[in-house]
Amino acid sequence: MAAIKNVAVIGGSGAIGKPVLDALVSSGKFKITILSRSSSKSRFPASITVLPVDYNSIESLTAALKDQDAVVSTIGMEGILGQTLIFDAAIAAGVKRFLPSEFGSDISNSKTAALPVYEHKVAVRKHIEEKVKNGTDITYTYVINGTFLDWGIEVGFLVNWKEGKPRVFNGGDRPISITTLGSVGLAVVGVLSEPEETKNRSVFVHDIVITQNRLIELAKSVQPTKKWDPVDDDVVEVEKIANKKLANGQADMELMYEYLYVAVFGEGYGAKMENVDNKLLGVPGKTEANIKAIWKKLLV
Ligand SMILES: NC(=O)c1ccc[n+]([C@@H]2O[C@H](COP(=O)([O-])OP(=O)(O)OC[C@H]3O[C@@H](n4cnc5c(N)ncnc54)[C@H](OP(=O)(O)O)[C@@H]3O)[C@@H](O)[C@H]2O)c1
Repeated sequence: MAAIKNVAVIGGSGAIGKPVLDALVSSGKFKITILSRSSSKSRFPASITVLPVDYNSIESLTAALKDQDAVVSTIGMEGILGQTLIFDAAIAAGVKRFLPSEFGSDISNSKTAALPVYEHKVAVRKHIEEKVKNGTDITYTYVINGTFLDWGIEVGFLVNWKEGKPRVFNGGDRPISITTLGSVGLAVVGVLSEPEETKNRSVFVHDIVITQNRLIELAKSVQPTKKWDPVDDDVVEVEKIANKKLANGQADMELMYEYLYVAVFGEGYGAKMENVDNKLLGVPGKTEANIKAIWKKLLV
């Protein structure tokens, strides 16, 4: 497969979009164009071309994607389903590789795919794979990185440190794969640098495998005076309660986060990756010292 040179990034100022954009620019390997909503307030470096687009218009999208070799979508949750039209525009524009906004759990795991929070990502995959199966030149890659390591600590998703009362799921000893935003950026560079090896499949990447209890121990080691009062929670119960709320009409992000906890800390959802593509993608991984440094910034 020919080398990828021109890359369009969607959502390039978002939580994962910015580090992905930074990694693509720093690699010096690609010519980057950013697609952004016409109504967006996002700001980008002046050196990068930014094209305002209408995500509901295939004409607008196709025109913006002309001459692009690859599309990296880091679109936020509310824009996930709209990627079906972006993908169709990418086909019409002759794009060779499409990376939809995945960047999390492995939804080829059937238990994970069945969780309501992944409904739109599953629909996007189905759309992409059907089109590819029916014959088109475009190819795809799904980047699976587990939970974001630095983001997951900072926002309190992995360990709710702010109130010192983290929800610890089923004893807190389940090992899970986590990846810094910077390493996800490196993984995207790796995919676009190795188009043949990463064609029409998921790539798996992580920085480290760790448990909630170990994350808390590392926090204690950098700030021994902070009080911790963990609250034990049971993932099976979390899912049951979430299902009831969903049945009663709740469908907001707060509820979707409960399903994310199920995917990350539940039994059989594949949150600990067994085989990773770190070497192929050029992602060296992190150590516990790196995690301590994150805690230090937050707690000391
Ligand atoms: N593994 C993890 O721990 C983890 C954590 C968080 C997120 N994620 C995943 O990472 C991906 C990106 O999430 P994110 O949190 O980085 O995204 P985000 O910051 O919420 O949004 C990224 C960008 O998407 C663009 N966008 C286009 N259409 C949109 C729409 N209809 N609604 C909202 N934004 C729209 C916006 O860019 P413009 O303003 O330039 O148009 C926005 O800045 C998702 O697939 C998400 O599931 C994974």
